[in-house]
Parts: sequence; structure tokens; C-alpha cells
Amino acid sequence: MPNLILPPPWRTPECQITPESLYLQAISRRSCLKLVGLGGLAAMGWLPACSQPVSEAEFSKNPKNYELSDVDRQVYPADHNATFVLDRPMTDEHIAAQYNNFYEFSEAKDDVWQRVGGFQPRPWTIAVSGLVKRPQQLDIDDLFTIMPMEERVYRHRCVEAWAMAVPWTGFPLKALVEKVDPLSTARFIRFTSFHSPQVAMGQRGYGPWPYTEGLTMAEATNELALLVTGIYGHPLPKQHGAPLRLVTPWKYGYKSIKSIVAMEFLAERPATFWNTLIPHEYDFVANVNPRIPHPRWSQDTERMIGSDQRFPTQYLNGYQEWAGLLYA
Ligand code: MTE
Repeated sequence: MPNLILPPPWRTPECQITPESLYLQAISRRSCLKLVGLGGLAAMGWLPACSQPVSEAEFSKNPKNYELSDVDRQVYPADHNATFVLDRPMTDEHIAAQYNNFYEFSEAKDDVWQRVGGFQPRPWTIAVSGLVKRPQQLDIDDLFTIMPMEERVYRHRCVEAWAMAVPWTGFPLKALVEKVDPLSTARFIRFTSFHSPQVAMGQRGYGPWPYTEGLTMAEATNELALLVTGIYGHPLPKQHGAPLRLVTPWKYGYKSIKSIVAMEFLAERPATFWNTLIPHEYDFVANVNPRIPHPRWSQDTERMIGSDQRFPTQYLNGYQEWAGLLYA
């Protein structure tokens, strides 16, 4: 079972009442990661993280987990959109690349980057269907050449109370929505990740696989919603959700679905992965909000991965200027 988003409720209290000092003395790095709940406590800042990321030099000796195709050479570096600025230092690339939520590959965060080798993000198509005038199968490289690519720095806030700040490359989701021309009856979009239990071991366990997420049409066409193809000026490494993922920075990170294979335009609100698994802990809307604690922890502050610096959590993750009107 994963460590924080979904600790089995019948075991979590034991973890929480065990004194921190006992944990730290008794638990080695690997067994620590296997203990359901502990990594999550660390993520919340209640315990030090169980494992340290390898250094930048050490990390660079490993495969990058992305390749530069001819199309990519035309895309990167994309023009930087200066509208979006950070209030804190950028997260180091090797830190972000070693701390990932991608439950298809691992329940721990620190080894996803080492488990994605067998995953092939090319060739790749995205099926657009449902209530649209132009349903289609989009080849990912064709899509990249026609979409208005740009780079944006965004803060990313996980529901587990860790955060990062990274430069994404991508294009507004709105541009794709306009291209497929939704019918007036379309009120939601459901996004679906790949399903391949042969390469994604996590998909052999609890589900409901594949991972799915959803947005209202108003959210999907908000300026902030980005379909992301790259990070730090190059294509997405597999652990970040190659070849295409969603980024909605005013929402908790679980909405930012990785490795998308399908988008369906629907009249009714779709079922989504976490909301189906634990509806009372992970709601469909998932807006960042320090005033609404998670049932098992506070959302008042967030810990930046890498530095462990803490910041007060802001309503809509500080993106009220753009997303605020959606919920007025
Ligand atoms: N997408 C898929 N397909 N599977 C996942 O497990 N985890 C989500 C989101 N997208 C997840 C996913 C969560 S909980 C977070 S916080 C972000 O991805 C993490 O993105 P990152 O690993 O690039 O930082």
C-alpha cells in the first residue's frame, strides 16, 4: 500500500503513536520505507525523511529517463512566460526527479526514478472522445509541433503537505479544448493514464487502475491549466509523467495526472482514482486550502523538498488571481 495518500486506516494510528526516537533508532532506511505511513509522516514534517536523495553528481551517472527526439529539438527551450513568478527558490532538478508520486511504479517516492526504465513513452497517442465535434486520435509528436509551447514556473503543492517549484514546458489545455471543439453539453473532462501492468508493477495491486482524473470545463479552460511535455527545459523524464501530463497548480498534486492516454468530454462528473478509493479524504475539486485540514493532518504549511524550508500554505496555492473567479 502507498505510504501517505493511502495508508490503511487500521494501521496508521500505531505509526503515529510510536515515539519518533524509537522509530529513528530501530528502523533502517529500507525497512523504514516499507512501513506504511512512515514516509508519509516524514512528508508532513513530523519525522525526518527516511532517505536522502543521491547527490547531483551521483544522480547524473544514471539514465536521464528521457530522450531528445527531432521534434523535441524544435520545442526546447520554449519561450519563457514571465507572467508567472515564484516567491521562493526553484527546486533543484535532481531533487524533483528523485521524489515522485507515481503509484503505477512504486508506493515509495524515492525509487520511482529507478523503476520506470521499462516504460516506453513513444510511440504514443491520445484518444479524444465524447461530447466533441472533432473526436480524434492525436499522435503525441504531431501534437507537439502544432501546439503553442511555452515555459512556466509554477509552485506544486501535494496533498501530503510537501511542495516544490519547477519550470514546466507545455501548452494551455485550453488550446487543445478549442481544437477538438466541445459540444455545449460537455461539462467535464475525464483524463486517463496508461494501463500496462507488465511494466507498471503497481497496477498489479489495488486499483481502480488506470489512474483517472477530472476537471470541469471552466477549470480546464482556465489560463493556468497546462498540458505539460517537459521540465527544466527538456522533455519530461518518465518519473514526471512522460510524454504528457496535466498541471493544475491551484489544486493538490493528485489532480496533475501523468502519462495521459485519453481525454473524454462528458456531461456528468466522472469518477476519479483517489476520490473513488477514499472519497472522504480526497475530494473531486481538490483545491489547495489551508483552512480545510486533511482528516489526518493539517494543511496550514508546506515543506519544500530539498531544503525542508516551510511556507504557509496559501488558498488556491497562491493562484487566486487566475483561479479565484472559478469559485467566487
Ligand atoms: N499520475 C499518475 N498517473 N499516477 C500517480 O500516482 N500521482 C499524483 C500526480 N499524478 C500520480 C499522478 C500526485 S499525488 C502528485 S503529488 C503528482 O503527480 C507528483 O508529480 P511529480 O512526481 O512529477 O512531482
